[in-house]
Amino acid sequence: MNTHARNIHERRALLSRFGREFLGLHPPTPVRTLDGAGATRRKVYLDATATSLMPTPVWAALDRYFRLACANSHTHAHAAGRETTAAIERARELVGELVGWDPSVDVAIFTGNGATGAANLLAEALFPAPPTQGRDVVLVSKMEHHSNMLPWMRAVGRDRVRFIDTSPDGTLDQACYRRLLEAEGARVAVVAVTGVSNVTGIINPVHELARTAHRAGAEIVVDAAQAAPHVPLDMHPAGDPDGALDYVIVSGHKLYAPGSRGVLIGRRDVFHEDRVVGGVGGGAVDMVSTEEVRWKADVAAREEAGTPNIPGTIALGVVAGMLREIGMDLVREHEVALVDDALGRLSRVPGVVVYGSADTARVPRAGVIAFNVRDLPHGLVAAALWDYFAIAVRNDCFCAQPYVKEQLQLRPDVESSCASEAAACDVEHKPGMVRASFGVFTTRDDVAALDEALTFIAAHAGELRARYVRSAGGDFTHTGAADAPAFSIDDVVAGWAAGG
Ligand SMILES: Cc1ncc(COP(=O)(O)O)c(C=O)c1O
Repeated sequence: MNTHARNIHERRALLSRFGREFLGLHPPTPVRTLDGAGATRRKVYLDATATSLMPTPVWAALDRYFRLACANSHTHAHAAGRETTAAIERARELVGELVGWDPSVDVAIFTGNGATGAANLLAEALFPAPPTQGRDVVLVSKMEHHSNMLPWMRAVGRDRVRFIDTSPDGTLDQACYRRLLEAEGARVAVVAVTGVSNVTGIINPVHELARTAHRAGAEIVVDAAQAAPHVPLDMHPAGDPDGALDYVIVSGHKLYAPGSRGVLIGRRDVFHEDRVVGGVGGGAVDMVSTEEVRWKADVAAREEAGTPNIPGTIALGVVAGMLREIGMDLVREHEVALVDDALGRLSRVPGVVVYGSADTARVPRAGVIAFNVRDLPHGLVAAALWDYFAIAVRNDCFCAQPYVKEQLQLRPDVESSCASEAAACDVEHKPGMVRASFGVFTTRDDVAALDEALTFIAAHAGELRARYVRSAGGDFTHTGAADAPAFSIDDVVAGWAAGG
């Protein structure tokens, strides 16, 4: 657990500085206006749940690394190679500490492709072959991102996965959870739940869920792709061994560290020398001959064959170190104020429907808010937020289709408002929502900008609708001339070739 070396004032000052120091935070951005004149607005990035922006000090750290110590982590003959190896191992410790690991029982394994890579690795480690007897069932909540659902369905087979219901207010249905555990009893091997929903931001009581799972003899996997950037985590809470989390999954690019590193932190003893789960190859072995292979005893080395994503790992280590200095309690405090402000404002915008309980005292939520604007398709609202207000959000089902569909079905007001014009309404034909999500760089001004934009969009629904065409895939494109892209590889190459 984090024992803070700094006092609260120093930590607050660090958080405030950290939040201001991001690349691409508020560049002036051209926007459309209804009269066609156009204008410029400060960009507001409300899509941290998909991928966060990058802190300037992380960029500076990578710059320093590439200038002074760039090398392969498996090279030990020169200083840069050794420093690269040391940086990766330090990153491992810092990420472990961020989630409260116990290095005497846990291992932290870096994977590719973010949290998805880590979840797949764990599912394969726990179920090297589809089980046929014993503990052969996995409980998965209906709140899950597909990345904490599909790996389990593949590992044990669809018919051995049981789904924990969600309640109308978006929370996990604990009675259903207990019922499933009672019914399946000794068959349940694993309970897979998210720490924070990537749709509603609802924070699950993971230690309570862990105690219930452990009483039934099952293990718990917490997908912390959204929890790690937003709330304090403690895999081994003091005095509460039953509340411990067996496995935690982290996603680097959602935690202010670009490069899509995934990290699986959890019980080392599920990995075995005679059954390597990750890719096999260089770095994982002590000895190879044509007759014999001797795998490394160190689990992380064995399961991380090949040259890793070194910049992504270093970025993640630097971020984890910075967040340790700040303390996740303060990150959470910052977000609580923003979320309450945003929920209050959105509740007053005519036609806006927010999903999941807005009573944050009863149902705590992180900085993630999904909503619809009645009478408007979610794709159009998201497009108009960007085109007219330079506010970046995401729409659709956020790779959490079961949960999104359940939440939408529980809102007859949204569905009936669409039924009148089925051809244009993709809440009915293409279920989805708009999602605004926050990070440490999000401010009250950003929330106010969202409020202003949604108020405008709700009031000008008809005029906006007339200015968009919908593609077969459901995306909305403005009928006006498109701006030149701010970034393209071809432009970079052409600029370089021209000597600029
Ligand atoms: C809760 C949750 N789990 C898993 C994932 C998958 O993460 P990644 O894109 O890092 O694989 C996401 C991505 O949005 C997520 O929000």
